[in-house]
Amino acid sequence: FLGAFFTLKAQEPNYDESKVPAYTLPDPLRMENGDEVNSPAKWVERRAEILKVFETQVYGKMPEHPKDLHFRVLSEDRYALSNMATRKEVAVYFTKDEQHYMTILMYIPNKRRGEAPVFFGLNFKGNHTICDDPDITESVTRMKPREGGSEKQPGTFKRGAESSRWPVEMLIANGYAVATVYRGDIDPDYDDGFQNGVHPLFYGKGQTRPRADEWGTLSAWAWGLSCAMDYFVTDEDIDSKKVALVGHSRHGKTALWAGAIDQRFAMAISNDSGCGGAAISRRKYGETFSKVNRLFPHWFCENFKQYNDKEELLPVDQHELIALMAPRPVYIASAIDDKWADPKGEFLSGVHATPVYRLLGREGLNGTGLPTVNQPLMPGSIGYHVRSGNHDITLYDWEQFVKFADKHFK
Ligand code: GCU
Repeated sequence: FLGAFFTLKAQEPNYDESKVPAYTLPDPLRMENGDEVNSPAKWVERRAEILKVFETQVYGKMPEHPKDLHFRVLSEDRYALSNMATRKEVAVYFTKDEQHYMTILMYIPNKRRGEAPVFFGLNFKGNHTICDDPDITESVTRMKPREGGSEKQPGTFKRGAESSRWPVEMLIANGYAVATVYRGDIDPDYDDGFQNGVHPLFYGKGQTRPRADEWGTLSAWAWGLSCAMDYFVTDEDIDSKKVALVGHSRHGKTALWAGAIDQRFAMAISNDSGCGGAAISRRKYGETFSKVNRLFPHWFCENFKQYNDKEELLPVDQHELIALMAPRPVYIASAIDDKWADPKGEFLSGVHATPVYRLLGREGLNGTGLPTVNQPLMPGSIGYHVRSGNHDITLYDWEQFVKFADKHFK
């Protein structure tokens, strides 16, 4: 009985700053062989080492883009949103037979000079939920049937259900395009043994699931975003050199990882991404590896599970995921009541990525404690704010992203 009692106790998340263990972070500016990284050229070598650890121990390696990847504009309306925007829907086909594809929904400002910069990210519930526009094609499930899948079908969500999270008109008014993909077009968000998403398209003979160092769902989503970039470079309305990845929570983890694997993305914005996203893992504050792996066994690669309750043994920490963005701008947003995501740990990853930015001639973040609530910091190429309120992505968050993007894109 006592044993069971203590086990239960051990599973409570820690929200007590005084119980954060003492830890030493891996040094992004030291090679695995101990050499100091003191030049941009040396950083390129170090970057490859860090990327490899994230690939094989955290998110899992992903395949090359399909050789049959191709695109088709499915719809285009130049008079959307009271003539303010052009709405396009573009299919990105993963296979020649066009059985597997994702649909990018885009709004492009009509009032603009040249190609538009774009905020691009995954949505949770279907493209038709990001905006009240009745003409958005409803997302459907095109993957194989999801036997026993717990994830709700996109069709069960109302049009515009997520519009508070996607201030499309505000972004258009500020000269930005918005692009989004329903994440279920790439891989469903439940533990289906990797049968229904893109994974089976790449299994070798006799293979039924990814190997221990191969992609989980977060890597599949990031891979999908990277495939979308292949489309953006072909679209004359979009400035593919100014694509800012943006994501809330699990999609924030994905945005950071996508920015790491595909350096064509010019910016990454993480909103409340927490464990496996922006938060320093060694703090073990709020969500930890054992918790995320139990709740979402499909997100990370199998190897990652070795580090449950052993965060200190993982050769990287999340400040190095931020550093993989360098010198490109990255923005980290937290919410003060979202303790599960560890706001202070999210801030600190920006601080500890800063030496890499400095080596590359950019400014990052300074500080040891959590910044003041609702006072965004954007002194250089790493931005941060902690908003009042809880786990969500709000107009306030987006207003800061626009300011940050204005600074770097305009
Ligand atoms: C859960 C999960 C988090 C994740 C969040 C979300 O809370 O534990 O890791 O970020 O869902 O995606 O909203």
